[in-house]
Amino acid sequence: MNILLTGGAGFIGSHTIIELNKSGHDVVVVDNLVNSNPEALNRVAAIIGKQVPFIKADVRDREAMDRIFKQHKIDAVIHFAGLKAVGESVSMPLEYYENNMNSTFVLLDVMRKNGCKNIIFSSSATVYGDPAIIPITEECPKGHCTNPYGQTKSMLEEVLMDVQKADKEWNVVLLRYFNPIGAHPSGTMGENPNGIPNNLMPYITQTAIGIRKELGVFGNDYDTPDGTGVRDYIHVCDLAAGHVAALQAIERQCGLAIYNLGTGHGYSVLDVVKAFIKVNGVDVPYSIKPRRPGDIATCYCNPAKAKAELGWEAQYGIEEMCRDSWNWQKKNPKGYDA
Ligand code: NAD
Ligand code: UD1
Repeated sequence: MNILLTGGAGFIGSHTIIELNKSGHDVVVVDNLVNSNPEALNRVAAIIGKQVPFIKADVRDREAMDRIFKQHKIDAVIHFAGLKAVGESVSMPLEYYENNMNSTFVLLDVMRKNGCKNIIFSSSATVYGDPAIIPITEECPKGHCTNPYGQTKSMLEEVLMDVQKADKEWNVVLLRYFNPIGAHPSGTMGENPNGIPNNLMPYITQTAIGIRKELGVFGNDYDTPDGTGVRDYIHVCDLAAGHVAALQAIERQCGLAIYNLGTGHGYSVLDVVKAFIKVNGVDVPYSIKPRRPGDIATCYCNPAKAKAELGWEAQYGIEEMCRDSWNWQKKNPKGYDA
């Protein structure tokens, strides 16, 4: 298939290009580079042996999007584009709602007008709020999102479901990602956070390399085995492969389908820190800090549905995730800016 990746220059999108290429799909990327570096696409090219067509444009730009659909015969869209920093979304709610909602409205309308009604959407475990069931299945009711970023994911899921309900020609796959970490095993591609990282793994790697003095562990009084927060970390290459698998749902005209993409294993903050130190033989100084507002104790999934219906399951374990995150950080101390 010929797949349009919105936000394809970003962390998950760039890794997904490689997996799509492996499976014989063609890719077109549209990205406004608001949170990415075009160098990521050069690194992809070095791995797959060709440049993918790239259009620098905003998904909210209707004319630009229409031109892409007129110039390329697009069979399906994987919609990664969006702003994703939770803390920033609390201080800039309008920018988050405007970007994430309007880009999706424009995209869906342009798709419809050009006769392309197949979409895979990047959703998040955040839609479960403080989950009612652990491990989380897709039947778990959605919960209360504590921030505008999470609200956009939850609301866009509803929009996409309504669109599919109104017109059965649409195939909509909602992928709820758990916590993507890791990097391409080559060490040439990885996460490139702006400024001080909010998420655990980039904070660990930047501490290990000396950019940050120490890691703050946010709370050790949760109701978890060691008191620190438990999450379902998934290697970004496994997550990328999940998108290729999700295309099967589109191919068999799934209508609406929802899948959790996680490993099904929960690791605490201290489990991750210890695994990182052990695998990489580097120190990660840390100290216990107060809980971070909005955090929950435990979040991991039951990934059985994706395995049963798509034949997909995560291959990498926590040690490989720690190894590849460090490999990327070590070889690219300044990310793609070096
Ligand atoms: P990312 O920021 O690296 O990639 C998103 C890309 O979208 C960036 O390259 C950015 O420049 C682009 N973009 C943003 N707004 C755009 C617009 N209006 N027009 C064109 N391009 C635009 O993020 P990522 O980690 O690769 O995440 C991809 C998707 O997955 C996002 O929708 C994110 O919310 C979702 N997600 C990410 C995580 C995570 O932890 N990384 C977890 C759950 C869901
Ligand atoms: C975050 C987002 C969530 C998003 C998810 C996907 C928040 C509040 N939530 O989830 O919306 O879907 O990423 O990637 O940002 N931790 C520390 N010290 C740090 C950083 C994190 O102890 O410096 C702890 C956290 O308290 C948590 C765990 O590490 O227990 C994971 O945190 P993080 O990587 O930010 O992911 P989530 O909070 O699960």
